[in-house]
Amino acid sequence: MGAFMLLPIVLILYEIASLILPLKMPLWGRLLFWLFLLIGISKGFLYHRTPDGFEIYELPYAATLLITFVFNFIIIAALICLTKDIIFLAWKIFSRRPFPHFYAALFAFSVAFSATLFGTYEGLRLPDVNIQEVAIKNLGREFDGMRIAMLVDIHADELTNYKAVQKIVDRTNALKPDLILIPGDFVDGTVKARSKDLEPIKNLKAKFGVLGVTGNHEYYFDFHGWIKEFPKLGVKMLMNENVALTSGDAKLIIAGVPDITGKMMGLTAPDIDLALKDVPKDAPIILMDHRPDSARENAKKNIALQVSGHTHGGQVPVIYSLTKRANKGFVRGWYDVEGMKLYVSPGTSQWNGFACRIFDPSEITLFILRSAE
Ligand SMILES: [Fe+2]
Repeated sequence: MGAFMLLPIVLILYEIASLILPLKMPLWGRLLFWLFLLIGISKGFLYHRTPDGFEIYELPYAATLLITFVFNFIIIAALICLTKDIIFLAWKIFSRRPFPHFYAALFAFSVAFSATLFGTYEGLRLPDVNIQEVAIKNLGREFDGMRIAMLVDIHADELTNYKAVQKIVDRTNALKPDLILIPGDFVDGTVKARSKDLEPIKNLKAKFGVLGVTGNHEYYFDFHGWIKEFPKLGVKMLMNENVALTSGDAKLIIAGVPDITGKMMGLTAPDIDLALKDVPKDAPIILMDHRPDSARENAKKNIALQVSGHTHGGQVPVIYSLTKRANKGFVRGWYDVEGMKLYVSPGTSQWNGFACRIFDPSEITLFILRSAE
């Protein structure tokens, strides 16, 4: 994956100029630091093509963690160096005193290192439980108080491995959900390489079962293999389909569309009309759509609640703003989209490509449904 090599190389060159040179380190210190930064570039070599898409070379957990930490540092340090250099430009314009390059670089380095430690820990730790009550119009009394757990962007891989996924599953089961939704990005890797890491999701327990849709990452690695694998893990995938949950006389519809990446790859495209086919007229609808950016279109279809992920909540300040722009203004939390409720989860885990979260904790979302007039 070119971007994984090119981006850190460009950022490292910038950081050498902005951070390392002003620190005036001795030669051995500079060499050591450059070696540290070069570890970050190795992330790009971990991906390779297979007939089914991309695959990631297997490394021991500690090596994956080290590369992840250094790669995170390169990204975070670049954002902090940029802030420092903007301050330097302003200083040059407004002050006649010499800019304290050494102390500014030392401060920037300390902040970048601390922020990377914090962000990497936050990315790896067990997700919080976020309980959200949500009023649903026309919800039958029988479904009042229904508990729906949502896991999204699990991204099972070398970092979010079997143990991590099992902990997420245990925490979810402890919430005693009636239904579990997984709107995409289950895994990164082929079935052969990653089925063991995702295996704990077959232990998820809920009266109405586990429903899912594809995210973009399902298409990057062995799509056809995973589509056969998900039912074996107890997940019913809704590919432009819906299911009607029944309790007494009341009905609740759960619909799902596949991710738009399917369309780009000549596979099943999302089709909201097909997903809502034969839905009873007055039954409330909850829609799973991996990305939030079709929400304005979906809102025209009498949907009570759309649940999405994909954005990872922006992950870190500055990138938050870019994520918002890339996802039509939707990043994390609640939105009212022309009368339709939209909830965007920041994700239950994180993507190994940038496994870092600052002021953006991951979560298992627990919706408690309430009847609304
Ligand atoms: Fe995604």
